[in-house]
Formats: sequence, structure tokens, C-alpha cells
Amino acid sequence: MVVLVKIRHRARQMPNNKYFIITAALLIAWLGMVSTSAAELQPLALRCEYRVNPEGIDTLEPRLTWQVASPQRGARQTACQILVASSDQLLEKNHGDLWDTHKIAGGQTINVPYAGQTLVSREQCFWKVRVWNEQGKPSAWSKPARWSMGLLGPTDWQAHYISFQDTTPLWTNASQLYLPPAHQYRKEFTSSHRIKRATLFATALGIYELSLNGQPVGDDRFAPGWTDYHQSAYYHTYDVTGLIRQGGNALGAWVADGWYSGYLGFGLLTGIGTERIGRFTYGKTPAFMAQLEIEYHDGTQTTISTDPSWKETGGGPIRQADFLMGEYYDARQEMSGWSQPGFDDSQWQPAVLAADNGSVPATFYEFENPASPTNAPQISGHPVDLGFQRPPRLEAFPGVPVRPAQELDAVAITSPTNGIYIFNLGQNFAGVARLKVKGAAGTVIRLRYGEMLYPDGQLMTENLRKARATDFYVLRGDPHGETYTPRFTYHGFQYVEVTGYPGKPDKRAIKGIVLQSDTPMASGFACSDPLASRLFKNIVWTQRANFIDLPTDCPQRDERFGWMGDAQIYVHCATLNADVAAFYTKWLRQVMEAQRASGTFPGYCPFPFQHGWNFGTAWCDAGVICPWTLWQAYGDKRIIEHCWPFMTKFMDWRKGNSRNFLGLAQGNDWGDWLSFGQKTPLDYIDTVYFAKTAHLMSQMAAALGKDQEAAEYSQLFANIKAAFDERYLRPDGSLTVDTQTAYALALEMDLIPGELRLKSGRVLAEKIKSSETADTSGMTTGFLGTRPLLPVLTSVEENDLAIKQFQSRKFPSWGYEVEQGATTIWEHWDSFTKDHGFGGVNGQQNASMNSFAHYSFGAVGEWMLNDLGGIQSDGPGYDKIILHPHPPTPARDFGHPPITWVKTHYDSIHGRIESNWSLKGRHFKLDTTIPANTTATVYLPTSSEKNVTESGLPLARIQHAKFIRLDNGCAILAVESGKYAFESQLAQ
Ligand code: BGC
Repeated sequence: MVVLVKIRHRARQMPNNKYFIITAALLIAWLGMVSTSAAELQPLALRCEYRVNPEGIDTLEPRLTWQVASPQRGARQTACQILVASSDQLLEKNHGDLWDTHKIAGGQTINVPYAGQTLVSREQCFWKVRVWNEQGKPSAWSKPARWSMGLLGPTDWQAHYISFQDTTPLWTNASQLYLPPAHQYRKEFTSSHRIKRATLFATALGIYELSLNGQPVGDDRFAPGWTDYHQSAYYHTYDVTGLIRQGGNALGAWVADGWYSGYLGFGLLTGIGTERIGRFTYGKTPAFMAQLEIEYHDGTQTTISTDPSWKETGGGPIRQADFLMGEYYDARQEMSGWSQPGFDDSQWQPAVLAADNGSVPATFYEFENPASPTNAPQISGHPVDLGFQRPPRLEAFPGVPVRPAQELDAVAITSPTNGIYIFNLGQNFAGVARLKVKGAAGTVIRLRYGEMLYPDGQLMTENLRKARATDFYVLRGDPHGETYTPRFTYHGFQYVEVTGYPGKPDKRAIKGIVLQSDTPMASGFACSDPLASRLFKNIVWTQRANFIDLPTDCPQRDERFGWMGDAQIYVHCATLNADVAAFYTKWLRQVMEAQRASGTFPGYCPFPFQHGWNFGTAWCDAGVICPWTLWQAYGDKRIIEHCWPFMTKFMDWRKGNSRNFLGLAQGNDWGDWLSFGQKTPLDYIDTVYFAKTAHLMSQMAAALGKDQEAAEYSQLFANIKAAFDERYLRPDGSLTVDTQTAYALALEMDLIPGELRLKSGRVLAEKIKSSETADTSGMTTGFLGTRPLLPVLTSVEENDLAIKQFQSRKFPSWGYEVEQGATTIWEHWDSFTKDHGFGGVNGQQNASMNSFAHYSFGAVGEWMLNDLGGIQSDGPGYDKIILHPHPPTPARDFGHPPITWVKTHYDSIHGRIESNWSLKGRHFKLDTTIPANTTATVYLPTSSEKNVTESGLPLARIQHAKFIRLDNGCAILAVESGKYAFESQLAQ
């Protein structure tokens, strides 16, 4: 109806345009059709285990997900039919020989578990779905999608782990780096018949890259990913049908140390791990295993697998290959055609079975918890064998690979010293540089990486600590020029310092190659304050820089660990920014794998070695908070089911250690890490996190149908809350622990009884306001307190203060950091200041502990989307949505021009949710999209529902948006899916 009105109006302006009239008539006819047509609800975006057409699934019940879309309001799926076939031809004929659900009633589109014929190793599964709309009409079939099964049992593997014969003595010298070459492996084979399909399965202890007949196999980096190799490893599956040819073929692999045996974390810095040298954490010699299976059209098949018939060399161009230290690439040692048939490998050696390198006794040093909690942990050594051990579990990689995601051009070149050029790539990120150069053979070029420059223009590398972060390239002297991109390392940087370049380089000599786990972006944010729009970009860049196989703390210095505190602080924000479902599915397995015998979760996962205690409050709790958050974001019950026994064991540890339902004052004392001027005691924080985890456990138990456990955890939460109130809460709503973080945490975790909530909120607000000075924002919170601060302020009717803090440019604040030039989120608010450089605002900062890509303070992104933009899930999985934008009160003083509009969206698992609002005086507008098959509760600020219109019509005339009630200055509406343009008037 609305469309017709608009067309008539435009037609009046163009009466003579016959094409317009014809088009309009067609459009009207089409609209008439879709309004009654069954095709109006379209199933699309088919995924299996969160991925598009994944290869190598090893669960027997892969979960299928799709979205439904419709141009109409109120569109709902009322039934669906899934077909899974063993060939695309059968699927085309609508014959689901593996699974035909027939028509099943219901609106389920998320994680529907496969329940057809039992799936077997290597099975090819082709699937599609059709859906019925609310009028009971079926849609057309979706486009077909597929998945393949991996190798489900150990007997499917004929391949053996192979290595080079390693005769080097175990390096034990911590004062000198030991950087061995990457090794190349190759195997020629003949493919005799016409090829139907070829699949390659590969894994390594170390990291690998494959090539077939000289072509790269995929563009993954750092496969197979970091696990505790003593417990498990992943294999990856590649469809290589297009790379094999009938006749002679060759398969090649590069294998480097990676996490398995390269320099790892702060091992070298702190003198822990194998022989206290920082490397050989899991073993001494990398090993590789691959199995290539070729099926022919005539029904026969060949398998090529790793065994001692393969050849290997350590004499190739990659002389050094280390995550932290970088690569040394001597192009003069390239062996052209090495992964093609016919290459002369007579100088190469036979590979050996990895086990044949024998045992390698060594001493492994790490901290141990003290016998008495009042003592500090001490380092002690225990004997280990660094020889090959087959990982007990070999599993299909459940995550998303690290890939090159973007290329960045240099924006400037400077030369602080003769012959040294610094390329500014305009953005801090993680990845590598691509070097382009022409020059004489043997010329050595050095690339050093840094996030910042000193005022004199020199590269700042103090904050890299023991990470050498340097790549070398030795030219082969190609007169046409040569290009080099490191393979087995990455760095966190914005600047590349180039030394030894022949002549004067131009900007094309260096490009930035952004590497990240392939987690598609899921949100957008812009608002009338350009600084906030830049902040959003900084948050996203920091997430990308740290989502490299696992959620790391930082990409530049010698850590790059999956720090659990940072992870639990940021995980919700991460789910808003990108589709991270498969990414966290992978990492959470490593979290569960890292659980300590006591039941606690350690400070970082994987947990290659213990530093300090093996737990710290709010860090260990990531083991419960992260699975819960994934369930909430994606409605994923399997993940909480998988983690359930581990989480229960953890809660048993918590219960066993707590006295009178209060928290512990021991363990790693990170607490409200990097708080500014106010320390919140550890036992207070621990009590709050004990309460939080008990609360989340009760919700997860209920979702899993564990009613008794749900009741027990709910009672536990009530007991902790009562103990908390008795110990910390005064009758006036103030707390005996007088820090902003104490209030933010207690309010966020619902530890203040309802009647005192607003009072406590007011105390918190007053604390912030009274701490503000001409130069400081008034915020004193650290990692733990900052995340809930703005959401809590908004929830206790202090939204204007939340907005003021958000827009502040005073120290400490997000705005301050952006004004100091940040392009990512920094570890410290003042990691760099225009006035004091790297010394921080007080000149005391430790420049070596100063990352420029640390995501914790970026968790404010959740307030930006959830509260300011107002997009929230109402329960797990965005089946029900809350749209509750929180504009500023007109005419208040925010210290900066108040935010007058926000444009934000979130690509939920059901599809895109949009919230675009603007405020002119007291006139509020909200343009929104609610995805098909979901409903939303929409909050519009107004004094009366009579002021509310949708597309210019009063609410009473809107079929799909119903007024429910007025509450706290908002009209609350129940809205069905579709696009809406609401308007309202704010109260005077
Ligand atoms: C990391 C942090 C981490 C912390 C523990 C640091 O070195 O970078 O982000 O959470 O250690 O306090």
C-alpha cells in the first residue's frame, strides 16, 4: 500500500514517461504476485557447522543452518524440509537418499542436527532446504550446498608422521637464538585414470603449507593450528580435484616449527619451558603427515601417503622460520619446480618416520603452585621426552583458517638514517610485508617491524621484548625483479623498516598483507561523533590483529597467548563484530584441554607452561563465560554440552575453595588489570565472578534440560549473593569496597537487590563525576571494570553519563586514545601520548609492556551496539530481539556536541538487524530491519504512544507492530520481522 502511494506521487511528477509507467505497472504486478506467492520466503545462506561448504567434518551429526528472507513484514517459517543426498545429481532430482526430513513443522533454521543415514569417512553430502511460510505455502528449494566427511577413525589413516633425520644436539643456550630452516618434503606419483575426485588430508607437529604440481593448495596459513599436541592435533581437508592431472604429479610440503617447536610466548624472556630457552615446547623435531586420496571415474582409487619413500631437504630458501623471530629467506637457494613432477631430487634425503628420531630427554621448567597459599609459586624442572609422540587424538579442524585478508598500500616513506627506509602502512595490524625488489644476487634486505616510531623517526621496537620480528630476504638477482612474502611468521605492525634496499625504494616496494582467522565481519557502526566512528574501526582492527588461530592478547611482543581474562572480557564484543562461531568452537576445545587436574582453568589457553599460579580470578572464569556467550550469540547448545563436564569440574573447584560462599584471595593477582589509581581487592572480584559463573551455569543447565543442576546453581547464586550483600553492601546501596570497578561488577552481575540498584548506580555515577577534573575523565576502571561500566550506567538511568564518558577526550578515555593517533585499541589508555611519548601520562610507563593492539578496552564496542545502537538478543540466538536505542537527553551538556544519530547493524545468525536512529530536538526517528523469522521488542523514547508513527501512520494502523505499554519514558512495541520507519517525540 505504501509503495503504491509513493509510486502515484512520483508518477505525478513524470506523467509523460511511459517507461516509468510500464515499470511501475510491472512492479505493482510483481508486488501483487509476491504478496500471495509462495516464493516470498527464501531460504539462503546455507552453512554446515558454521561454515560454507566445509570439507572434512568429523561429527556424525553435523548441524545445518540457513536463513530465510522475505520482502514482507511478519514473514515466518512454519515448516521446513531438508534433503541430503550422496550426489549432486540425486539432490537435483530432489532425492535425499541420505536424509529426507519430509515436511517438519516449526521455525528452526539454526544448528539443525543431521539425523539421516549414518555418515561414514569421506562421504560427500549435498543438501538443500525449502521452507513454508506463515500461510503454509512452500518456497522454492534453496541453492544446493555441500559438506564432506573427514577421516573418522584412526584406521582411516594409512599415512605415517614423517620428519627429517634430526641429528642436531638439543640447543640449550638461552643467550643465543637457534633458528633452524623450514624443511621441504616431496613425493611424485602417477595418476593413471580419469580423475573423479581428489582429497588431501594433512596435519603436522609444526606448521605446514602444501603445493601440488607447483600450485598452492588453498591459501591457509599456520595450519593445522595450535593445540596441546600432547593431547590432540587437527588435520585439514582439501578438495584438490582441480590440481591433479592424469599422468605424473608431485605433492610438496613446507614444514616449519610453529607453536610445536619454535619460540613460544614469553618462555625465553622468563626462562621457562624446555631447558629455559623458550623453544621446543612440545617436541624437538617437526613432523608432517598427509594422505592424498584419488578416486577415478572407473571406480578405482589410489592413496598417496607420507612414509619414508618421500624425499626431504632442509637446504631450501627458508633458512629460518619462526613466529616470534621472523624468517630468513635466501632466494638463491630456491629450487624451481620442486613440487612438480620431474624435479631432480637426487640431492634430497629420504624422509624418516618421525618416531625414528628417537627420544630426546630434556628438562622442562615451569612454575608450580606452592604447597601453602601464602607462599609464591616457584620454578621447578621435571624430565620430559621431546621425541616424537603421536597426538592421542587427531580431529578435523573445526575452526576457520588464517588467511591473507587484505593488502595495505604504504602511505608514506621516511628515511631517518641514510640507507634505511621506513614504510608507513597507515594502520596498525597483524600480518607480514610483501617486498618487491630488483637488484644483484646476494643483496641482503632486512625488514624490521614496529607499531610506532620514536619522535626522531626511528622504529620503536622496545615493546616487542624478545620477539625479534625481523625478516631477511637475500636476492637471487632476477633482472625482472622479485617478490617476497614471509610464510611462517607474522608480526604486529604499522611500520616496516627496510635496510639494504638497492637504490631508493618507492611506495610500491612494500605492501602490508593483513592476516587473520577468516571470521567475516558482522557489524557496522557510525555516528555523528566522528571520533566514535573511528573508535569502532580501531576496535575491529584490533580484533582482526588478535584473531589469529586463537584469540591472542597481542600480535607483536613475545606473548600472543590466549589470555583468558582478555578473552572473557571481549568475547561478547567479538561475537558482535564478526562471525566467530567456528573460531571459538576451535579455541574452546583448547580451553577445555587446558583444564588443570584441580579443575581450574589456567591464565592462558593453550597452556604450554605455567607462569605464576595456574589460575587467576576472572581469568579462569573464561572457561564458563566464553561457552555461555557463544550459546547466547548463536543459540549453540552443543558447545555448552561439550564444555559441561569441564565447567562442572571447574565449579566444583570453585565451591571447594570458597568459604561461606565468598571468593578467594589467592592465585595470580591480576584482578582489575591496569586499573587507574584504584585497586579492587582480589577476594571481592573473586566473589563476584563466583556469583557470575554460578548464575550462568544455572542458565546453561536449564537450557540443557538439567533441571536439578539448574536449581542447584541457582541456589548457589542466591547463596553467594546473600554472602556478598552481607559482606560488602550497606543499606544505602553503597559498597564497602569503594572503587568504580566494585560497583560496575556488582551491578552488572546483579548482586545488588532490586530496591537498591538505582541507589548503588547513583553512588557509582557520583564517584565518576567527582573524580573528573579539567584534565581527567574521572574513570578509574581497569580491564575488568571498564567493560561493564557504560552498560551498567545506562541500565541504572545514567545513560547521559555513559555517553559523556564515551565521548570524553580526557585521560583516560577511548576518545583520548583516538586523539593521540590510535588506529587500534591500546593496552594502556596512554600507551603513547603526544606530550610524553611512550612514558604514559605520568612518565612512568614501562615501554616494553606496551602493546598497541590489545582488545580489552575495546569491549566498549558491546555498549556501542547493544545500548547506544540498541541491538540486543532477548535470550539465546537472536530468535527474539530487543531494539532499545539509548539517545542522549536533548540539551544536556556532554562536553562535546551530543550524538544526534547512530547507524548500526548486526548480521545475526538469522540475518541482518539494523538500527539507524536520529534525534532532532525532541523528534526521534528509528529506521530498523528485523530479520524474517524473528520478532523484536522495540523501545521508542516518548511520553505517549500517541506520538509514535510508523512510515507516517499512527501505530494503531500498523499490522505488524503492536503497542504493549509505556515504561520509563519509552513506548514498548511488539514488532514482527520486516523494515520499519518509526518516529516519536521525546518527553519534555
Ligand atoms: C597480557 C594481558 C594478560 C595479562 C595477565 C599480559 O601480559 O598481555 O593482556 O591478561 O598478562 O595479567
